[in-house]
Amino acid sequence: MLQVKEVTRNKKQYLELLLLADEQESMVDRYLERGDMFALYDGDLKSICVVTNEGNGIYEIKSIATYPQYQKQGYGKALIEYLFEHYREQCHTMLVGTGESPLTLTFYGQCGFTYSHRIKNFFTDHYDHPMFEDGKQLVDMIYLKKQLP
Ligand SMILES: CC(C)(COP(=O)(O)OP(=O)(O)OC[C@H]1O[C@@H](n2cnc3c(N)ncnc32)[C@H](O)[C@@H]1OP(=O)(O)O)[C@@H](O)C(=O)NCCC(=O)NCCS
Repeated sequence: MLQVKEVTRNKKQYLELLLLADEQESMVDRYLERGDMFALYDGDLKSICVVTNEGNGIYEIKSIATYPQYQKQGYGKALIEYLFEHYREQCHTMLVGTGESPLTLTFYGQCGFTYSHRIKNFFTDHYDHPMFEDGKQLVDMIYLKKQLP
């Protein structure tokens, strides 16, 4: 049975998973403490995510990751759907920023997100090393949005 638990202390215990989504720890530190953290279990731990309150009814998914051996089994999507329900009352727009990686963009598309805007050179300006996904360098941050009913 799927179960989602909010994590309020010792969030760094999930660093291994967090680094799958955001490989530079100093960048994770920018949102980890102020973010809400949720852990999805199906027996054992499968996925983790961090969400921040950006004010005025806007929330942002800063990080989501599923253990590699459990990916593509619906856990990530289930966790996103949990977030939509959890924040329904106080959130009208959920944002997520991501690298221009087809796999990740497909995943968020499947979860109902659509293109919002881009932040030019976010990854080259803020990270201390070049990052690649599927052989392609991450440069701009692509923001996607989902309006909650
Ligand atoms: C992105 C990520 C969180 C998705 O989690 P997941 O548990 O594998 O996702 P799901 O199994 O719920 O997939 C949901 C949908 O996305 C699509 N999808 C997920 N991974 C995909 C992949 N690698 N390629 C193509 N489509 C993919 C699937 O088609 C699926 O749609 P379906 O419901 O119609 O089958 C996971 O791949 C991951 O941890 N990646 C590393 C960390 C990362 O890049 N995080 C995102 C940046 S913050």
